[in-house]
Amino acid sequence: MNLIVGTGFAGSYVYRALKKAGKEDVLATVRDPGMIPAGSGADFTVCDVTDPRDIASLAARCSGRPLTVFYFAACHNVDYLYTHPDEGRAVNLSALEAFLDAFEGAEKLFFASTDCVYGENAPLSPKFRETDATRPINEYGRQKKEAEQIVRDCGFTAVRFSYMLGPSLLPKKHFYDTIAGKLMQGEPVELLDGMVRSALSYGTAAALLIKLSELPPEKTGGTVNLCSDGEYTKYELGRMIAARIGADGALVRPLPESEGSRFFTERRASRLVMDNTKLKTLLDIKEILPGV
Ligand SMILES: NC(=O)c1ccc[n+]([C@@H]2O[C@H](COP(=O)([O-])OP(=O)(O)OC[C@H]3O[C@@H](n4cnc5c(N)ncnc54)[C@H](OP(=O)(O)O)[C@@H]3O)[C@@H](O)[C@H]2O)c1
Repeated sequence: MNLIVGTGFAGSYVYRALKKAGKEDVLATVRDPGMIPAGSGADFTVCDVTDPRDIASLAARCSGRPLTVFYFAACHNVDYLYTHPDEGRAVNLSALEAFLDAFEGAEKLFFASTDCVYGENAPLSPKFRETDATRPINEYGRQKKEAEQIVRDCGFTAVRFSYMLGPSLLPKKHFYDTIAGKLMQGEPVELLDGMVRSALSYGTAAALLIKLSELPPEKTGGTVNLCSDGEYTKYELGRMIAARIGADGALVRPLPESEGSRFFTERRASRLVMDNTKLKTLLDIKEILPGV
């Protein structure tokens, strides 16, 4: 059985890919019943991971079957966590611990972590590998770093995702949809010519994660970076979106990083790029394109 916890943008792509692959036994959780995709009600259930009753009833529903868990539930707004670290810890750490207690019998569990655990690359420095030291520069990265350790201590896998983007499969808009919508209307958009990431699409990320989940558990333990081969600024990603939807790329305009960062409260890395050799070796693949 496959269980997706916190079926948001990324989780809904995993759900869709599992169903397309013909997996019947999939259960996906949302916090808000309004997020259940039309026609898929039977595969979905409501679960707030901070509510012990929800966790107990979810565990009861999954008991007695070999289980693979994809765990996405998180409070991950970087600026919100800066001002509300305790509210974040309740979801990102306390609820995660309670969940792992209830699901210790799972065969495999993949926890959605982030490149932010590494901190920041010095200009021109090599991409971060799984064996490098982690020195997060913001509260989001610090909480994910702590969460990863809890996950690994239970024998499960922390998957460090880079920035992901793509059209939303849910009744809520992603940043991608906002940009694509403006470009389709012929409106210009300004995007940071900075904040370089090994970004990839939600679709590609979901496909890679599912492949990883199909490996024997002893191969996937520990930590895995999941990202594309390249490194892209937000501006470059905006140009890719324009190309993908057939809009005029000239509508995407670069915003200097120094100007853009005034919109943020908390620190963000200027360059944060990961090495994906371990993932490619595990999956025996040569190239990971961003797929945007
Ligand atoms: N997107 C990225 O670029 C990126 C990069 C690296 C890592 N990640 C990690 O990937 C995961 C998924 O991110 P995403 O892009 O798919 O964003 P998302 O749609 O916001 O996914 C997070 C999900 O967690 C749910 N959630 C929050 N609090 C919860 C609670 N108390 N109980 C149950 N569910 C709860 C959210 O539900 P609501 O919608 O109801 O709040 C949402 O469905 C997150 O853990 C994030 O940290 C994302």
